[in-house]
Amino acid sequence: MEMIIFDTQQELDAYAAELIINIVNEKPSAVLGLATGSTPIGIYDKIVESYNEKKVSFKEVTTFNLDEYVGLKPENDQSYTYYMNKHLFSHIDIPSDQTHLPNGMAQDIEEESARYDTMLDAQPVDIQLLGLGHNGHIGFNEPDVNLPYGTHAVKLKAETLEANARFFASMDEVPKYAITMGVGSILKANTIVLAVRGADKAKIVKEALTGPITTSVPASLLQTHARVIVLLDREAGRMMG
Ligand code: GLP
Repeated sequence: MEMIIFDTQQELDAYAAELIINIVNEKPSAVLGLATGSTPIGIYDKIVESYNEKKVSFKEVTTFNLDEYVGLKPENDQSYTYYMNKHLFSHIDIPSDQTHLPNGMAQDIEEESARYDTMLDAQPVDIQLLGLGHNGHIGFNEPDVNLPYGTHAVKLKAETLEANARFFASMDEVPKYAITMGVGSILKANTIVLAVRGADKAKIVKEALTGPITTSVPASLLQTHARVIVLLDREAGRMMG
């Protein structure tokens, strides 16, 4: 596992954006695995900046997002579809039919999960961007005794609902379920970039990267992957020595 600790958030964002841009410039039809949350926003800003400077084009790129809330319409400003349009897709030249998120409004979530996995199998991810939840979740793969391999519906844990509550008017509005790529699908990506910032993540970063490999810390499974690049800011990396 390669790990870089940055002095500033800006440096981390620029580095992560460059990793993605380099892959797209090497392979214009690259498949990108994308993430949401507050951590990737600065990375997407940098990507948009480079696009505006004509340093990269996304015309042939395909993207797959990790997850989506169940029951939020795409127009809802807390849906991940809305987030991706707002922070990235509406600012670059990617055709919208090449951007994919699991459909959280699907009548049959199992069928939707199978559909998503079929697409992922046909277009393997070249580089997957990941954030990290406080409880070690990646995507919305919450700690559990067993983790499903592929895309599936998940009941969000109390701590995740609490972390998400800041974005909603009240706790009642926070979606209780999500649909997420499985850890198996995530680990199929050729390269994984795990970006984490903030002092509140320092403990889980250490546990996930140096602790035992266990489904009770889903991110610890990343230790089994051959090419993971961990990007931390000083605060998130302060227990990493
Ligand atoms: C959500 C997302 C994750 C993300 C996590 C951390 O749970 N499903 O993909 O990594 O939030 O978000 P933040 O970067 O805001 O701490």
